[in-house]
Amino acid sequence: MKQLRVGFIGSGFIAKFLAVAMKQVRNCELTAITHRGGAEELAAYAKENGLGDPKLFKSVSELCKHCDAVAIFSPNYTRLAIMEEIAEAVKQGAALKGVICEKPLGRTLRESRRMAQLARGAGLLTSYFENQLHMNTINNALEQLRPTQRAMGDFTLARSTEEHAGPHNAWFWDPVRQGGGVLSDMGCHSIAICRHILTPEGKSPTFLEPVAMQCDTSLLKWGQPKYRKQLLETYGVDYSKTPAEDFATGIVTFRNPETGQLVKGQFTDSWMYDKQGLRLSMDGLGPGYAMEINSLISPSEIFIGDEAAEGVADAELALEKSTASRGLLAVQPNEADLYGYTTELRDAVNSFLNGKDGFLDWEYGVEVTFLVQAAYMAAERRQTINLTDEIVKKELESYQSLISRGKGADVLFG
Ligand SMILES: NC(=O)c1ccc[n+]([C@@H]2O[C@H](COP(=O)([O-])OP(=O)(O)OC[C@H]3O[C@@H](n4cnc5c(N)ncnc54)[C@H](O)[C@@H]3O)[C@@H](O)[C@H]2O)c1
Repeated sequence: MKQLRVGFIGSGFIAKFLAVAMKQVRNCELTAITHRGGAEELAAYAKENGLGDPKLFKSVSELCKHCDAVAIFSPNYTRLAIMEEIAEAVKQGAALKGVICEKPLGRTLRESRRMAQLARGAGLLTSYFENQLHMNTINNALEQLRPTQRAMGDFTLARSTEEHAGPHNAWFWDPVRQGGGVLSDMGCHSIAICRHILTPEGKSPTFLEPVAMQCDTSLLKWGQPKYRKQLLETYGVDYSKTPAEDFATGIVTFRNPETGQLVKGQFTDSWMYDKQGLRLSMDGLGPGYAMEINSLISPSEIFIGDEAAEGVADAELALEKSTASRGLLAVQPNEADLYGYTTELRDAVNSFLNGKDGFLDWEYGVEVTFLVQAAYMAAERRQTINLTDEIVKKELESYQSLISRGKGADVLFG
């Protein structure tokens, strides 16, 4: 097989971003898309840009017959039923090689484990899409620092924040369908990237052992009456009854199993960042050296004055999750590449074509869910969670946060 035929399940925000990324990836073709919201536009985009001539399919099992790999880009609450259909399609003879899943792999540890079991049970290769571990800005900085690290020792502290003004679709705001609030949605990125920065050169993504988790979840902006009303009117979600956190921050501690050294990842995520748009910011601190990334700093910027701005309100023209259409705005020349979408797709395509799992497999996705759920547990209990305690680990296997059960008022209004 020289060319990987890929099918997209979902044609919303992330599917479109991955289609943009696909323009920069060789040896793959978009051959199938599930026939739901946005599918026609995505298929037209694919055709115009030489990505393929995708056919639209009403059912996942039909779609599976027309590709070598499927990518699950649908909402979090649809994951498991879709993976069950994929596994059944393989049983019925669909010749699939691999399956990709966007973050998070599941809303709970139980869901994530089931996803991985179904994929492996069907004999599929897996790739977990955590784009930030593929960001060239981060990996190039790490590469540059490797000789220094060899001389001085590894990073001891990584910090990561992902923030914007709030998601673009109702289901993200609904803690039951999404699996929580901003911690479930974006904490999975920030915890994973901290671990990546801290991981010593040449070691696997799960080399560092999780030791402890501290976390605080709060509702700072969207619980206020004015913004609650806005959420209810725009998305039909009532944060007076079923709130989710719009701010989360915490510290995860890891242990290097070879040296015993303890290192920390400090993560912060919010849906209340009222600046120009999405900001990813990471830094790593080691003995005598450091690295820092801020995705809002671009070599390119534009200015739109008040008089000129009237015609372009809400155009999201400059940047993902843009909040302004006037003033001085950063423009990223290649956002799909900046956030790591290009590199993660290239990795999945090359890995599957070579009969291997992606750099991040679904077992890795399960590990991320474990850490995110431990963060919810820490915030809920207002305690540091000991991740080496076998009783706690067992509890996490069946744990479901209060917020994701629609009982966020007990945690966030207490
Ligand atoms: N890596 C990132 O930075 C990033 C960014 C955004 C979203 N995501 C993830 O991608 C996934 C999708 O998010 P999105 O922003 O594209 O959401 P979206 O709401 O914009 O799009 C969802 C798409 O899935 C389709 N869909 C809904 N139910 C379906 C079902 N049962 N079967 C098949 N298709 C169905 C919808 O019609 C729509 O096309 C989520 O899991 C989200 O966490 C990741």
